[in-house]
Amino acid sequence: MLTGMKLNLSADEVLTTTRSVRKRLDLEKPVDRATVEEALEIALQAPTGSNRQGWHWVVIEDAAKREAVAAVYQRNFEEYRSTPGAEYPEGDSRAERAPLVRDSAGYLSDNFHKVPMLLIPCLWGRLDNASVVGGAGAWGSLLPAVWSFMLALRERGMGSAWTTIHLMNDGEREVAEILGIPYDKVSQGGLFPIAYTIGTDFKPAKREPLSTVLHWDQW
Ligand SMILES: Cc1cc2nc3c(=O)[nH]c(=O)nc-3n(C[C@H](O)[C@H](O)[C@H](O)COP(=O)(O)O)c2cc1C
Repeated sequence: MLTGMKLNLSADEVLTTTRSVRKRLDLEKPVDRATVEEALEIALQAPTGSNRQGWHWVVIEDAAKREAVAAVYQRNFEEYRSTPGAEYPEGDSRAERAPLVRDSAGYLSDNFHKVPMLLIPCLWGRLDNASVVGGAGAWGSLLPAVWSFMLALRERGMGSAWTTIHLMNDGEREVAEILGIPYDKVSQGGLFPIAYTIGTDFKPAKREPLSTVLHWDQW
């Protein structure tokens, strides 16, 4: 049992092996509130613009609510599933990974309602017509904390996957109604499954080389 235990990974190990976990989410093992709150306490150490801390964290444990939120995601995912993916040049690692990512994403969608807990990180304010500076400041004051949360889960033998598909097609509003989130005042950043992982060995991912995206002094 890993509950309450930590993996004692190095900082670099946590940073390089925190994957989007979908097929290896343990749908059977219960998740306790205390461990999730511990990971959220760590998340609150992330920076925010002007130290505003305008975040809210909606954790969904109730089975009927998980099912209702998952249904919104699943409906949107069916639309996403039928759209053609991005095209990459031959030999590009993203092209090789694309069918696997789609398959894994399909598994998560099909099983979202079975995930023991779900998280919706929220931000005070609506961003529908945000400028670049407004959007950067706002999302930059929520998403580092969300990533910290995912890293903290990893260290505790748990996992998640960053998802945004529930927000499509007015799904954000539907989910707001299900959970009582004040839609006209609060923006949702995504939907995050929370579960123990099946095994704890995760590897660094293959990424396109740094040299293809790095610019020193000049683009
Ligand atoms: C902003 C953002 C939105 C994403 N949305 C989804 C999503 O809706 N559903 C999903 O299954 N994965 C989603 N992902 C996960 C990506 O597919 C995943 O990060 C990518 O394939 C790389 O895999 P890795 O995280 O394991 O390195 C999202 C990731 C990010 C950062």
